[in-house]
Amino acid sequence: MKRNAINSGLKSVKSDVLIVGCYEGALENSSTFKQLNGAGNSLLKRFAAAEDFTGKNGQTLSHFADGASGAQTVLLVGLGERNKLNLQTLRTALVKAFRAVRGMKRPGAVTFAPLSLAGTSLTHLELAETFSAYAGMLDYRINHQKTAKLRFSEPGRIESLQLITSGLSAKTRSLAGLGLHNGGAIADAVNLARNLSNEPAKDCTPQRLAAVAQSIADNSGGTITCKLHGKAELEAMGANALLQVNAGSPLDPVLIELTYTPSTGATKEVLGFVGKGITFDSGGLDLKPADGMRNMKRDMAGAAATLAAIEAVAKLQLPISVKCFVAATENMCDGKAYKPGDVIHTMGSIAVEVDNTDAEGRLTLADAIAYAKTQGVTCIVDLATLTGAVKQIGGDVAAGAFSNDDAFLAVVDKAATRADEKLQPIRMYDELRGFNDTEMADVKNSGGALAGSTTAAFFIREFVEYGGNTVPWVHLDIAGTAFRDRELGADPRGATGFGVRTLIELARSAARKNRK
Ligand code: BES
Ligand code: MN
Ligand code: ZN
Repeated sequence: MKRNAINSGLKSVKSDVLIVGCYEGALENSSTFKQLNGAGNSLLKRFAAAEDFTGKNGQTLSHFADGASGAQTVLLVGLGERNKLNLQTLRTALVKAFRAVRGMKRPGAVTFAPLSLAGTSLTHLELAETFSAYAGMLDYRINHQKTAKLRFSEPGRIESLQLITSGLSAKTRSLAGLGLHNGGAIADAVNLARNLSNEPAKDCTPQRLAAVAQSIADNSGGTITCKLHGKAELEAMGANALLQVNAGSPLDPVLIELTYTPSTGATKEVLGFVGKGITFDSGGLDLKPADGMRNMKRDMAGAAATLAAIEAVAKLQLPISVKCFVAATENMCDGKAYKPGDVIHTMGSIAVEVDNTDAEGRLTLADAIAYAKTQGVTCIVDLATLTGAVKQIGGDVAAGAFSNDDAFLAVVDKAATRADEKLQPIRMYDELRGFNDTEMADVKNSGGALAGSTTAAFFIREFVEYGGNTVPWVHLDIAGTAFRDRELGADPRGATGFGVRTLIELARSAARKNRK
């Protein structure tokens, strides 16, 4: 999708769709609306009245432009009251607008008409970025493998986006151009995460994730470096939790490590992103039933989100150092598979009794976090499709958020809100920690059915905090939000790319703080 800020009149703009933002109850104050209506013998005004289109937030009305504009179709979208327009109301309106575009036969070139932002709390930079990002996220089509053999034909896609910036100052125009670019990088990252997590496990293997990580580094213009730690190295490192989870799989494990260093130089603060990268979770010998296994090709959604996010951070050239860690493996069962009752001496030297081979994610995260701590990260956010139980809390709307540091949790929660993703912070009451105790080892990998999401968080927390060199940490349990069986907001059915935008906003806020 090409994206450009253009200087063009409504009449001369060549486009398939012209999106016109309309403030509620003020259609005729809009110079764009007036122009289109005037050139079309008041058709637009009469049509809007006939359809009760008043500009209420999220209303849409599409109309053949009939020569009033160089565009083929005019799509009016209600923005709600002018004094209430902010990032959130703009997003709601754009979601509706791009859903309407998605329903069109040939969206092709889509143009956003000039919009006055006076009296709103939005800037043209924010408008451009949001327009660009939401176009990309809503134009997403699942990476299916349909052929044309049986009645299938590809639907039309948005090919290019234009934002008309005539009438704005040169400075504002260039900010709008930057916004279009940044929004494109954000949408591309979200869509990359969605694609990876929609891919069949047969294709999206640990080796595939490693190749994606390598190509992110290769395409970063030297700002991202990639280290891939293979099986022999993992043995030498003592990454026994990852190796044991991997034992039943014919595919080798890999510990992926990406490092982003801003071109302006490394920063003192180093964000650590850790993603759960189970490319298929059969449950292991504690085999999942069919229903529970059906979506387990997506058990690497956290990994996908962290890889995609660091790529976007580099494209946005944020002045903050970021590292990303993914312990990638399948969780399978065969004669070599790890067993309930086994004791694993993990990389962090903590001894873990395997209570349930289906609680594999926290084992791989344990090694990834132990390793991350040796690589100089100053805080950690992990993203993991960790527990089915988290759906009892946030449903498919909010990810569970657990932390050892209230201030850092507040920073991450704020970034999520800014990013239009929802978190449900959950307190970690100390009385629950004991559920992970066992007489056979330091800790066991399942705390049982009571408060399963919190006991899982307590397990991970042991690895964040052992040895005294604790770092601020937030764990996002995305088992309910990484994929859904319904469309929601800017997300399609299936993989959502949840967490990508939160991580990007977190990096932005860390970069801002760093600059001060
Ligand atoms: N990958 C699953 C969790 C999951 C469930 C993710 C549903 C997405 C949707 C995880 O590895 C798992 O199996 N968790 C167990 C933990 C239990 C054995 C302690 C669970 O949630 O049942
Ligand atoms: Mn599992
Ligand atoms: Zn899992």
